[in-house]
Amino acid sequence: KSTPRYDFIIVGGGSSGLVVANRLSEDPTVSVAIIEAGDQVFNNTNVTSASGYGKAFGTQIDWAYESEAQVYAGNKTQILRAGKALGGTSTINGMTYMRAESSQIDSWKKVGNNITWFSLLPYYKKSEYFEYPTEAQISMGASYLPEFHGTEGPLSVSWPTEMVGNNFSSTLNATFQALNLPWNGDANSGSMRGYNVFPKTFDRELDLREDAARAYYYPFTTRPNLDVYLNSFAQRLTWSNDNSSVAFANGVVFTDESGKEQRLLATKEVVLSAGSLRSPLLLELSGVGNPSVLEGLDIEVKVNSPFVGENLQDQTTVDTDYTANANFSGAGGFIGYFNATDLWGNSTAAYSKTVKASLERYANMTVQATGGVTDRETLLKLFQIQHELIFEDEVVISEVIVNAPSSSSGLLEYWGLMPFSRGNIHIKSTNASAPAAINPNFFLLDYDLKQQIDTARTARKVATTAPLSDILTSETTPGFDVVPENATDAVWGDWLKSVYRSNYHYISTAAMMSKELGGVVGDDHLVYGTANVRVVDASVIPFQVSGHLASTLYALAERAADIIKASHQ
Ligand code: FDA
Repeated sequence: KSTPRYDFIIVGGGSSGLVVANRLSEDPTVSVAIIEAGDQVFNNTNVTSASGYGKAFGTQIDWAYESEAQVYAGNKTQILRAGKALGGTSTINGMTYMRAESSQIDSWKKVGNNITWFSLLPYYKKSEYFEYPTEAQISMGASYLPEFHGTEGPLSVSWPTEMVGNNFSSTLNATFQALNLPWNGDANSGSMRGYNVFPKTFDRELDLREDAARAYYYPFTTRPNLDVYLNSFAQRLTWSNDNSSVAFANGVVFTDESGKEQRLLATKEVVLSAGSLRSPLLLELSGVGNPSVLEGLDIEVKVNSPFVGENLQDQTTVDTDYTANANFSGAGGFIGYFNATDLWGNSTAAYSKTVKASLERYANMTVQATGGVTDRETLLKLFQIQHELIFEDEVVISEVIVNAPSSSSGLLEYWGLMPFSRGNIHIKSTNASAPAAINPNFFLLDYDLKQQIDTARTARKVATTAPLSDILTSETTPGFDVVPENATDAVWGDWLKSVYRSNYHYISTAAMMSKELGGVVGDDHLVYGTANVRVVDASVIPFQVSGHLASTLYALAERAADIIKASHQ
């Protein structure tokens, strides 16, 4: 039997990969294959249910990668969740649809990319099928600015069918106002500060989660030029033997459902969309990476690309519990987004200076903690851009999610949005399914802990401010016995390090930046040193965004698809 041949092979049928596969296969003369390690989960109620968040964790559709021990954060390992299914992580995520601060997308220009908020906005809209809230939903807090939303895209974005009522949103609004945090009528507008009731990747008509497969794949299964290989685990790319100076990928080797090794041929391009904790590993397994990583494992260096797997960034999340004297039903998400001045008030300018003066130390510490692949001067440049975002652009740096109390208990989730710490991810074996060394270096740098501590203090303030405090009767975790009212940073810090988890917003492991700054791909997503390999997934995002990642990834993938199409015209 001859080896199947396609114009394009997409490795990973996840949030980003399915967008690219869909758009490329719009042209019936173009053939596209998707290689996806997981199965389809169309009828999996852990996926589809509006209130099912968390139910898929630890099941067969959760990769549940394990990090290295986090030596700056209590020495424990962390579970790093990611979806293993057609639809990828969009099948298990929290469904929050929240973009970014416009200045954060604009900052990508400073690292060599021709992308701005205004150039990406049309792609956010292109992906979106925005379901306008009903009058009833508006009365429960749903609000939007129409100019920022698209109504003709494939991805349903809406407020949940059954929203939390009983004035919970107005109770929260009054609480946040009491803390001087204003109402934000549309936090997806590029300006995130304030309190809002956010929309979700949710299909209100069907009352189901909207994942990437429901949006971008299932309605298009009849396309004869689009094939999906499920339960198929990609191992590496293969290269053409021509002697050109740039490497040309001509196929992908994978293990099929029965465990047999198979191959597909690519005539035009291979697109890696396996997620930020996989795409860099596939590059390394294919000989694209840092020679010191590859040679140690006897992998022939096809492309010397030293920064593959570097720049790994994530955030840290903490949950706190409350007893409550009211019980709400329905779904809904309520967020307060705070910036540096909200957190640090009159001392913000002084703290900005302190952090600025620490950037060289941060760069040195990062060099030490990451094996020095990215040098001190480069890190300093990247950190300066981040400092500007935090203290000059005043992007939001704290997210406080308040869940409506149900069964008489309440839950707050919060995280610092702009940590500086960077780590890395590398293969430890030539066996593609062997675990990798994944090290986010949580809390390596003191700003990150301070940001988390003052986010925690802010969250506690929210819970203890009226009128919310009339509903949340007492704090059960951490509790004032464990973390007293006027607890020091040290007490807060120890507690936070003992309970935090990954926020699952891993980025930048094949960063879109100039080569000089440690980039792996250009703003066309093409891997430097290759003629036809692109990375289109969370691996490319150079700095953390304050929103949640999926909306920005859908937009970026839409943009990437246009670029790929244009380059083959
Ligand atoms: P994604 O993970 O979607 O796709 C990668 C695909 O590649 C997967 O289908 C995987 O199985 C496949 N794959 C991997 N290795 C392979 C191999 N070797 N061969 C073949 N296939 C392979 N964001 C948000 O916006 N709102 C939210 O509420 C949340 N909440 C949230 C909760 C949880 C628990 C997680 C883990 C994450 C979130 N996020 C989120 C983050 C967001 O969902 C996430 O960043 C994106 O979905 C990632 O999209 P990608 O396209 O990068 O990878």
